[in-house]
Amino acid sequence: MFMRIALTGVPGTGKTAIADALAAKGFEVICLNEIVDKKKLWSGKDGFGSRIVNLRKLEHETNKLLSKKRNCVVEGHLACEMKLKCDLVIVCRTKPHVLESRLRKRGYPEKKLNENLMCELLDYCTIKSLGNYRKVYEVETSKNVKKNIEEIMRIVKGKGEKFKAGWVRWGKELRKTVLEGG
Ligand SMILES: Nc1ncnc2c1ncn2[C@@H]1O[C@H](COP(=O)(O)OP(=O)(O)O)[C@@H](O)[C@H]1O
Ligand SMILES: [Mg+2]
Repeated sequence: MFMRIALTGVPGTGKTAIADALAAKGFEVICLNEIVDKKKLWSGKDGFGSRIVNLRKLEHETNKLLSKKRNCVVEGHLACEMKLKCDLVIVCRTKPHVLESRLRKRGYPEKKLNENLMCELLDYCTIKSLGNYRKVYEVETSKNVKKNIEEIMRIVKGKGEKFKAGWVRWGKELRKTVLEGG
């Protein structure tokens, strides 16, 4: 059975770590950021210093590449913004306080950190994925990559019903952040 997986999620939620582990299981890894670099699919930077990517071209280039692949993982937060020719999408979800400390370690400036935390709290990548793909799943990547790989293998085998998008809810954390100021 061949499977093309799109792996998305807010920066810091573990996409690269999971893609590396899936590579060891025989999946070829395609990094959207690398395609953006190689094909120069960006023009200028936004207020956070992030590149402004031409999504239409990125989608086209990635799908061209995907048409020649069998078992592969397309990794990148932008996967949720496009319709890639993948069989399913997995959204990496991390507990907001864990994500915060990961992004702090990366040295994200406050504004960028808050923007990304807000995306995680508001299910941004999940909602976008549901708008662009038919099969969307979520795994919680706060703790254990090995466990996540087992979960993803279950999803790949069609036994991941309980991971269907919608089960991750940060309502409690959101209330704390918004109503109580963090
Ligand atoms: N499932 C996980 N459990 C615990 N730590 C993780 C997990 N996934 C990633 N990490 C850690 O979190 C950090 C960010 O992960 P990374 O894979 O670079 O995220 P992304 O590619 O989504 O930006 C890394 O230090 C990584 O080791
Ligand atoms: Mg990464």
